Amino acid sequence: MKITITGTGYVGLVTGVCLSDVGHQITCYDIDQEKIDLLNSGQSPIYEPGLDELIQKNIQKGRLQFTSNVKEAYSGADCIFIAVGTPPNEDGSANLTYIENAAIEIAEHMTKDCIVVTKSTVPVGTNEHIGMIIQERLPVNLKVRIVSNPEFLREGSAIHDTFHGDRIVIGSDNQEAGKRIEEIYSPFKLPVVHTDLRSAEMIKYASNSFLALKISFINEIANLCEKVGGNIEQVARGVGLDKRIGNKFLQAGIGFGGSCFPKDINALNHLANEYDYDFKILKSVIDVNRLQKERLFHKAKEIFESLAGRKITILGLTFKPNTDDIRDAASLKLIQDLLLEDAVITVYDPVGMSKVEKLFGDKIQYAASAEDALAGSEAAFILTEWGEIKTLSLETFKSYMEKPILFDGRNCFTLEDAEKHGIHYYSIGRKPIV
Ligand SMILES: NC(=O)c1ccc[n+]([C@@H]2O[C@H](COP(=O)([O-])OP(=O)(O)OC[C@H]3O[C@@H](n4cnc5c(N)ncnc54)[C@H](O)[C@@H]3O)[C@@H](O)[C@H]2O)c1
Repeated sequence: MKITITGTGYVGLVTGVCLSDVGHQITCYDIDQEKIDLLNSGQSPIYEPGLDELIQKNIQKGRLQFTSNVKEAYSGADCIFIAVGTPPNEDGSANLTYIENAAIEIAEHMTKDCIVVTKSTVPVGTNEHIGMIIQERLPVNLKVRIVSNPEFLREGSAIHDTFHGDRIVIGSDNQEAGKRIEEIYSPFKLPVVHTDLRSAEMIKYASNSFLALKISFINEIANLCEKVGGNIEQVARGVGLDKRIGNKFLQAGIGFGGSCFPKDINALNHLANEYDYDFKILKSVIDVNRLQKERLFHKAKEIFESLAGRKITILGLTFKPNTDDIRDAASLKLIQDLLLEDAVITVYDPVGMSKVEKLFGDKIQYAASAEDALAGSEAAFILTEWGEIKTLSLETFKSYMEKPILFDGRNCFTLEDAEKHGIHYYSIGRKPIV
């Protein structure tokens, strides 16, 4: 069975590599020649722990190949997984251009009956639309079946999640096609949920929206703790031990970012509007998160009369640890806000620097280490809880900074530790140490 994966980004590449690792013959196709060249040399174009090793292993075993040649990608394919981006449009809706282009190319180049599987996150109804795009262009002797197979992996633990995910959702209006996709995944031995096309699409949006809601909820409780007294870490522990609630996604912080949550909840809200449904909770989640991302910036503005000319350090740029992804990261908003105040910004991140440099160029400074970034600084923000950042000693902040004022968006340190080291410490949902 020839399986092609369209798009070698975070989802497509990890899916292709993991499917090849369990023995499938996989061709990964991307229109980005640079990515394909890198992959053919055995290197991953994205930072994802363990991925380089798996790529090299499966290339060597002859089960994994990469191409930017559309004919080679689709000719003879029995099954094509689409994993191209669905970024947000200005109005919050999902931009379907990439997936529509992929569908057109598939129709033009497939040479036998084929199952087309959508892994990209797409609004309800898109799979039917994709099916029509392909069907309209197909020669009469060829048949296409459409399956929706939304992806739930998390960047930073994407390989583990693919092998050990909670479930595989397979949505199809054709039972046989759904069964074939289940067989492809059978080596993973994961629970499978079969649904119709539209329900599968909705499961993805509902899951991400619910997780985003949980984060915004605990952030609101944290903000209230700051006003009424109480420590969000203790509150979250007490709440999370209730098995009906669970302790995941109850870490208060600077708000969620990344390539999925913000765009997916906006796309779901847009879809609701299109169908004349006022999705009140979702609108609140969006609002709460927007305000949460600005919270520490406003705190800093309150404390310093003016930020102009002040040397400010930002530690952690990626939207979460163990990824190089900076899409919608809290750091981007903070950098923009601080630049508007004419602050002098130095940043450090273990892997996210080059992507941020592409956006901000010489408007900010880039340090080679956390210590270098802190040297002579008047205030530091922690935005990503990378291991090497959260294990820094508070003594380091004290000895390198001109004034040890720390705004911790990830609650990396205990209040006792901050007190002991004489640091001015502002975190989320806990009393300030001043
Ligand atoms: N990143 C995640 O953690 C994650 C998790 C679950 C679901 N998703 C969803 O999966 C989809 C892909 O996300 P991603 O983060 O992997 O995107 P990405 O931007 O990292 O990768 C998309 C890739 O598709 C390629 N591409 C675009 N058009 C193409 C075409 N016509 N033919 C071949 N390749 C093409 C691009 O060059 C790029 O390499 C999105 O819909 C996203 O919402 C992402």
